Amino acid sequence: TKTYLTGIQTSGQPHLGNYIGAINPALAAAQSADSLYFLADYHSLNSVKDPAVLRENVRSVAATWLACGLDPERTCLYRQSSIPEVFELTLILASVTSKGLMNRAHAYKAARDRNTAAGVADLDSGVNMGLFNYPILMAADILVMETDLVPVGRDQAQHIEYAADIAGAFNHLYGGSYAFPIPKGVYPEGEGSILPGIDGRKMSKSYDNHIPLFVPEKQLRKLVRRITTDSTPVEAPKDPDTSVPFQLLAQFADAERTADVRKRLEAGGMGWGTLKDELFDVLTTLIAPMRDRYDALMAPGSELDAILDSGAERARERSRATLAKVRAAIGID
Ligand code: TYM
Repeated sequence: TKTYLTGIQTSGQPHLGNYIGAINPALAAAQSADSLYFLADYHSLNSVKDPAVLRENVRSVAATWLACGLDPERTCLYRQSSIPEVFELTLILASVTSKGLMNRAHAYKAARDRNTAAGVADLDSGVNMGLFNYPILMAADILVMETDLVPVGRDQAQHIEYAADIAGAFNHLYGGSYAFPIPKGVYPEGEGSILPGIDGRKMSKSYDNHIPLFVPEKQLRKLVRRITTDSTPVEAPKDPDTSVPFQLLAQFADAERTADVRKRLEAGGMGWGTLKDELFDVLTTLIAPMRDRYDALMAPGSELDAILDSGAERARERSRATLAKVRAAIGID
């Protein structure tokens, strides 16, 4: 059977984009495959510098997975930081990874572009080594568990390709004694599967345009109201495909409801306000029961910590076994 693995950074409470891009597809895959889903707490260290916030975020991301339906008996749910082999493998992989590959990484290039735009002379200004090495750490997350398939949003495609490239470089050198399975990304289909945020750009914590999954209902309503729309008057026919609230609705509503709303928009007479009411209704119906579970799991003394400990223990059996083979292959045994 295939092994699925994915991770979410502990940089805040997960948002609707994380749900569509990763959580929902990963939970569907976990029904019938081997699955390991983890909290990328060391990845988030690049952006989260407050220890109390980091601790809270770890609980929040773990509670989200469980509230959305992860079965901890079936899936290993663990903290990245519980797996020391990840960090050992990161160093090993760095020795088969060219700096040029890292120079071309999107996040690193974006940081340099921002400096160019701002007229900062040192293009690496503000870039820490954690950001630069990020793709190698992510490759280690994936390879240490001998992962076949990685359910992620399309924004992570380059990272998955890098993990495959790095595995290939290792296998080229050492494949005679040990070879990693080459991982593949599994991406949600279709337009809008990179979920837009309330301003229409990709939903992202770093753009501050995100809708957290488990905000209280009142706040959810407010955020939905703030989603950007154009100024087409209520009576006029509207193009659903260029409408941000419609793109969101299409990801969360069933096919029948989506088709119905599409027809009403195209016919004219449905205003953006009504569309947003529909979207709020779809979201709150899905989210309310999960939010109750989330709140219970976030309460002090919940079973959260025990679940993470047990997940880490099982995941470590795999990571230890992989590292034993890797060490033997490279001659450090
Ligand atoms: P992160 O924490 O930014 O996002 C977690 C997951 O959510 C997806 N996602 C989206 N999908 C659709 N629309 C959006 N607007 C949207 N925003 C985020 C992401 O694609 C991702 O699947 N580098 C990873 C974390 C990571 C990881 C790994 C993932 C670390 N190691 C190993 C897989 C395997 C990240 O920053 O995701």
